[in-house]
Amino acid sequence: MAYSKQVVDRFESVLNNPEQHAVGRFDPNDPNVATGLTGAPACGDVMKLQLKLNNDIIEDVKFKTYGCGSAIASSTMFVDMLKGKTIAEAKEIKDKDIAAALELPAIKLHCSVLAEESIHRAIADWEDKLRHRQHNQIYKEV
Ligand code: FES
Repeated sequence: MAYSKQVVDRFESVLNNPEQHAVGRFDPNDPNVATGLTGAPACGDVMKLQLKLNNDIIEDVKFKTYGCGSAIASSTMFVDMLKGKTIAEAKEIKDKDIAAALELPAIKLHCSVLAEESIHRAIADWEDKLRHRQHNQIYKEV
């Protein structure tokens, strides 16, 4: 199985300049940072995705992926698509869009699913933080 040119180009670009491609981490204690950590049952690879939010807008994104070239290429494509989006817009991004753009073969589809699942978990983490904030605000007011 050969990787498509899109996967190879993205993967090599990340290797040559990881910071430009948002590889890294934010302070997990920052109240405006949400984190999603996902493992792929099919292969054991792992992705951690962090969103930095300003109210409802995703201002910045960082990721670390311990996985194959397809997973890393998928991760960077998701990062590009997430920046500047609202949470509602981010929920609309699907792994199938990434898989199609990267021409992933069927055997590698789980690599883009790993990235999409990380987004869902980061969004769930953010929504959890918002619920806690609202709860604490109500508690303070009572
Ligand atoms: Fe594990 Fe691609 S083979 S994420």
